[in-house]
Amino acid sequence: MTARSLPAYVAIAVLLLQLTAYADAIDPHLEILPNGEMQTKPIGSSILLTCKPKVDNPSLVDDMQWLDPQNRVIDSLKYVVLPLESTHTGVSKPAMYTELHQDRSLSLFFNSLQEEQAGKYTCRGTYARNQPLNKSVGIDTIIAITWDDAPPNQFPILGEDFSIKCKVRARPSPSVDWLYNGELIKTTDRYIIDAHSLKIKNVQESDDGIYTCRASVQTTGELQERLIRVEVHTRPSIEEISSPVDIIEGENANIECKATGKPSPTFTWIKSLTQQNLSITDRFGVNPVTGVLTITNVNRDDSGEYQCSATNAAGTAKTTIQVNVIVKPKIMEFLNKTVVQGKNTEIMCKAFGRPAPEVTFRKFTADKQYVMGVQPQDDRIVMTNRLNDVSGETVGILSIHSALTSDDGLYECVAKNTGDVAYKNGHLTVEFPPSFHHMDNKTVYSWGQRPVNLTCIAESIPNATIRWTFYGDRKVEDDVSINVIGNGPISTIEVRPHDRRYYTIYKCIAANPHGTRENLIELKEASRPSELLDVKMIELTATTIRFDLTPPQPELPVQTITVQYKERDQTWDRARNRTWSVVNTTTPYVVEGLKPQTPYEFRFAAKNKVGLGNWGSNHYEMTPGRTMPNQPKILCTPGNDYEQSLFSNQYELGWLEPPDNGEPIDMYLIKYCQLSRVAGDWEVLDDTCVEIKSQTRTRQYLKGLSSDTFYSVELQAHNIMGFSKPGYVKFRTARGTDTSVLQHQGPLLTSGAVIGIVVATIFIIFIIIDAIFCCVRKTGIIYIICERSRRKPVDEEDAKLGSLYGWRFPLPYCDQKMANVAGVTAIQDSGSGKNTIRLVKHTAIDEKEPLKEEKKITPIIDSGLRRETSITFDGKRSISKTGFVGKDSAV
Ligand SMILES: *[C@@H]1O[C@H](CO)[C@@H](O)[C@H](O)[C@H]1NC(C)=O
Ligand SMILES: *[C@@H]1O[C@H](CO)[C@@H](O)[C@H](O)[C@H]1NC(C)=O
Ligand SMILES: *[C@@H]1O[C@H](CO)[C@@H](O)[C@H](O)[C@H]1NC(C)=O
Ligand SMILES: *[C@@H]1O[C@H](CO)[C@@H](O)[C@H](O)[C@H]1NC(C)=O
Repeated sequence: MTARSLPAYVAIAVLLLQLTAYADAIDPHLEILPNGEMQTKPIGSSILLTCKPKVDNPSLVDDMQWLDPQNRVIDSLKYVVLPLESTHTGVSKPAMYTELHQDRSLSLFFNSLQEEQAGKYTCRGTYARNQPLNKSVGIDTIIAITWDDAPPNQFPILGEDFSIKCKVRARPSPSVDWLYNGELIKTTDRYIIDAHSLKIKNVQESDDGIYTCRASVQTTGELQERLIRVEVHTRPSIEEISSPVDIIEGENANIECKATGKPSPTFTWIKSLTQQNLSITDRFGVNPVTGVLTITNVNRDDSGEYQCSATNAAGTAKTTIQVNVIVKPKIMEFLNKTVVQGKNTEIMCKAFGRPAPEVTFRKFTADKQYVMGVQPQDDRIVMTNRLNDVSGETVGILSIHSALTSDDGLYECVAKNTGDVAYKNGHLTVEFPPSFHHMDNKTVYSWGQRPVNLTCIAESIPNATIRWTFYGDRKVEDDVSINVIGNGPISTIEVRPHDRRYYTIYKCIAANPHGTRENLIELKEASRPSELLDVKMIELTATTIRFDLTPPQPELPVQTITVQYKERDQTWDRARNRTWSVVNTTTPYVVEGLKPQTPYEFRFAAKNKVGLGNWGSNHYEMTPGRTMPNQPKILCTPGNDYEQSLFSNQYELGWLEPPDNGEPIDMYLIKYCQLSRVAGDWEVLDDTCVEIKSQTRTRQYLKGLSSDTFYSVELQAHNIMGFSKPGYVKFRTARGTDTSVLQHQGPLLTSGAVIGIVVATIFIIFIIIDAIFCCVRKTGIIYIICERSRRKPVDEEDAKLGSLYGWRFPLPYCDQKMANVAGVTAIQDSGSGKNTIRLVKHTAIDEKEPLKEEKKITPIIDSGLRRETSITFDGKRSISKTGFVGKDSAV
């Protein structure tokens, strides 16, 4: 390009430019985006205003500026001096700034629009150096709904007034209303809607729930809701604790503090005196949830006031608890005590405990403790308690006035409080002078220089010493014939009475510090018994005699009585003898084995420890002649009208062997008949009578009887002289079938029976063999037994007593005569041999007193041996009118 052509080019360019400018020719102006005269923006929002030049040639635009409402130029970002305090991020931006773009538009930035930034903002610039450009925009701020103070969880307290806070800010100012569970709340006397809160009066638990705080701005149409959860809290309340609380020393204790409240309160414990929080102390433990205060190994000092606090969000409750430490009683001192009889004394027992224990005593021999004060049973004894202020001990005092020996003994001290009971034993010794209280033996016997012991027992506390004197104050120690054993509290002297001087009074002298007592013991010489005081013959038969004897009463009691007897024409040196013990007073004095119809002489002597006394005067008796046996006595139940058989078809008849009157009994005759009752009397059914002869046994079964039937039985003993008088009995068979006995006998050969038969057979064979040996070889068991019994002395003293003569003992037997039933007894006078009938009222007859007034009459009820034996020797029999025994029935 040349210099000549340049102006042409410029002219062309300008022309072109002008052509284009004309083509779209516009008025240069500024445009602010976003459009609008007024921009309304919420506070805090970030805003961008862009001022754009609308010119043909933007490059001609200069001096673009934004002016604030005070017409101050707003700086562009790069010129802003950052405030120091906001530089911690290094990128903090100013509240507003401008930024110029390449197309010459200028942006205005509001970082966070503030209320005071509201106003008119102007954008200006210059175009083509001379044409000013200007454009303004108004910024109006509004405030969006803002929850200034509206916590989403709020906790009113039960029973109090509460304002649910909901502080809302907005511009234009908002209107607020409340909803509870979706329903609009209206102001009532419970609900008051304030500017910033909903006030609820007297909050109830039912006020729990979700509240809605609703804010709205009508001009902007903005609406916001805030949900507020309301949970009603309750202030803690501590349950009443029954104060004081007793805890026991040495043990572990739990003290509970209970409180209610919502939310559940937590607990703390404080000891009031020290203000110490107990949750951090070693022996104490606090469970903050349950409120239990645990004290391990309670100490005496733990007593006092404690404070329990229960705290929750709604508040705190406190209570004070008085705690008492109980100290179990302990007996500190209980000393033994000694007192002299008749003096006053106190036994003391000291005990400690909290609360102070009550102390009392119990004597070991008694069940009950002493009561406080004077004892109701014994006003000598007073029980008191005294509190020792210094040591804190209780002193129990048992005051005994005028002590008795019975007060001596072991005592138990009993200390008791609410915690426990303690015991301790102690002894009270009551000393007393010697006493011979329990000695009754004042006389001691000896004889024939026999050594004898005289013993003296002195009771006393302390033990007494004993010495002995005789003949005034002669000491026994000096005598060679006296040996002293022991000098107290028991002392014995062994005296060997060589001569009569030793039979005297001995004095035993016991002494202890409280006194001296004497006791006299006489040593007497004992002698043999004198003659018997009385001898009476009671019963006589052909072979036996029975006496009633009264022994003498010497110093030493009679032990035995001996009788010597002989036939009258013999001499005493050939006499036989018999000895009875008198200790067993039921022993009858009976001599047996006499000869019939023989005169005898008897003499008696008594014996004691010293020896046999002198023989008394002689007693003569003549034994009667041999005759038929006495009436046998049937065993039965005395007093019964009849016997009851255990069986329906048999009866066991038992009797006592009567005296045989000189000839052995060889047979018993038993006759039994059925009875019928006619008009209250008995009648014998003669055709039913059965007779049985029994050998010398005293037992017989009557068989083949009818059931539930009365029978009468007559029993006679027989010897060579004839039949005795009959004994009678009535019996009745049992009800039942008459075959019961047959059944009973049914299974004959049980295994037991077989064994029994075998044993019996062997035994019989053995007896036979032994008998043969006895006769042929003079050896074997039978032979030995025979020989021995032959050699046996006649008077084996007491051993043989009553062995043979069971009939003499008062065993029960009966004699139920037929006539007795009718109320009369037929009696036969056998002395005269004539048959006479006497009517005698039936009475119970005393065996010991024979019916003496019936001397001439043989008593029908012959209850024993009688002197008035009037039985004839010729064997003639007389028969009673009842006719049970026929004349011809004999033999
Ligand atoms: C009291 O006496 C008893 C025996 O009676 C004895 O065992 C005990 O030791 C005594 N106590 C004192 C304290 O002397
Ligand atoms: C007396 O008593 C002593 C001691 O107890 C005893 O050894 C002696 O045999 C007795 N003497 C007589 C005669 O009982
Ligand atoms: C007293 O005497 C009794 C009986 O002999 C004896 O057991 C006891 O030990 C004695 N007491 C004293 C203190 O000697
Ligand atoms: C009793 O008799 C026997 C001999 O039969 C004779 O040894 C004994 O001394 C007699 N007893 C009396 C106390 O006569």
